[in-house]
Parts: sequence; C-alpha cells; structure tokens
Amino acid sequence: MTNLQIFLDIATEAALAAGVILQDYLGKVEDAITEKGRPGDLVTAADKASEKVILEILNRHFPQHSILAEESGKLGNQASEYLWAIDPLDGTTNYAHQYPCFAVSIGLFIQGVPQVGVIYDPFHNELFRAAAGLGATRNRRPIKVSKTAELSKSLLTSGFAYDRRETSDNNYAEFCHLTHLTQGVRRGGSASLDLAYVACGRVDGYWERGIAPWDVAAGIILVQEAGGIVTAYNGSDLQIDSGKILATNGYIHNILSQELMQVRPLSAW
Ligand code: IPD
Ligand code: CA
Ligand code: CA
Ligand code: CA
Repeated sequence: MTNLQIFLDIATEAALAAGVILQDYLGKVEDAITEKGRPGDLVTAADKASEKVILEILNRHFPQHSILAEESGKLGNQASEYLWAIDPLDGTTNYAHQYPCFAVSIGLFIQGVPQVGVIYDPFHNELFRAAAGLGATRNRRPIKVSKTAELSKSLLTSGFAYDRRETSDNNYAEFCHLTHLTQGVRRGGSASLDLAYVACGRVDGYWERGIAPWDVAAGIILVQEAGGIVTAYNGSDLQIDSGKILATNGYIHNILSQELMQVRPLSAW
C-alpha cells in the first residue's frame, strides 16, 4: 500500500468518526452556539467535538505531522512537510439551523501541495475521497467533472465570507453578474461540498473569496483528480493564502475567469 493510500484511509477513518458526532449532535446544540467575533460566525459544541476526534485519530497515527485545524489553530510539528488542514464542520451556519448541507473536510498538503482529501457529508451519507494519482470517488465509485462547455448552460456555486459586511470586495457583484450569465448560482453554505459537487458534476464551477486552507484543502485534490481545474481567479496558480479560489470542470474555466476579472478588474487577484 502506498503512503498516500494509508493517509487517505486514516483521513477517512477520522472523517467518518467525526460524521457520527455531527449526526449525534444535530438538533441538540441550541445551548452551545456562540459567535467567534463577527456577526454570524458561529461555533457549536459539534464543531469542537468533531475536531477533537479528528485530532485524536490523526495524532495517534501521525504524531510527527503538522496540523492546521479551524477551531484549534496550528498544532504539532510545524517543521513537518506534512500538513493536515481540518474543517471539523464545514457549514456551521447550516448545521445550527438544521439545514442539511454540511460536511467534515480533511485535506493533506505535502510540501505545500494538496495530495489527499476526504469530505464526508454525514446527513446524506456521502463520502468523497481523492489522492494524487489515485482518482476521485463518491461512496467508493469513481467520479468525473461535468462536460458543460458553455457558461449559459452552466450551474455554479459560490459563497460569502463572514467579513462580507466589512468590505466592498464581498462577492456580491460577482454573484449578480454570474447569475445573469448562467442557469443559476447556488450558495450552499459549505465550501467543501461546493468543491465536491464540482468534482462529481452536480455543478460546473465554483468560486469564492475569503476561504481558509481548511475549507478547500480536501476539495482541491478532489476536483483535480476528477478532471477539473483549480486556480486563482485569473487562471494563475492558486495561492491559498490569498483566500480566492476558482474551481471548474475545465471547459468553462477560461470564460468564468474572464467574467470574474471583468467584474472587479482592479482587485489584486
Ligand atoms: C464556511 C462555509 C461557507 C463559506 C464560508 C466558510 P464554516 O465555513 O464553507 O460556505 O462561504 O466562507 O467560512 O465556517 O461553516 O466552516
Ligand atoms: Ca469552513
Ligand atoms: Ca468549520
Ligand atoms: Ca467556522
């Protein structure tokens, strides 16, 4: 078994264990929902319990690795070339309202490159997995991106970051612009599932600003292994720290990039 396969299997074990916790807590966290600073930026007892079990499993198997977890920050050996990026509950706002669009997302960067990704939606029992060179799957069956080649025939997803009230670069203009040019733009509320849905062809493209490494680490390799493309808005190499991501089936990548650039040509992409 290759190392990547081992990493993939342990990440799967962790995501499934966390998914059980999310399902257990669903509808029972009303008294344990707090804001993290910005209005609407919630954290619940479920986020924390999910993260705890993921950390336990990863630490047990990979004590020498580095970890970046949404609720705990940086942990482990920061000099390691292996970095696990963990979102224990992606879609907390949905979860707090019992809107069934949320997931566990666990991605592994090796020397800064996304190599392994597991996204688990426990409500729908959908397990998305990928590793570099090993393909992408949904519930263990191979998945592919869509073949939609025209923006006018496409369905897209996007999202809005928690700082949207504080900046004019809040994605509202882009969302309106693309809503006019496509068959629709969805705002699912879970960045990892947005990427998983690009990977399995349910949507043709996804873009967002304000995302963190834990939101997208797993989804990037999933889209790539499913035949899609992930870049910065302008089509250049993705810089995760920029917070901006464009992921598509490949066919609409250039045109979607051009339209995003047209909406906000003066931004530092
Ligand atoms: C959020 C979700 C949402 C995206 C936000 C993220 P969280 O993650 O992925 O779809 O629009 O930017 O912060 O806080 O629910 O883990
Ligand atoms: Ca998230
Ligand atoms: Ca989260
Ligand atoms: Ca959060």
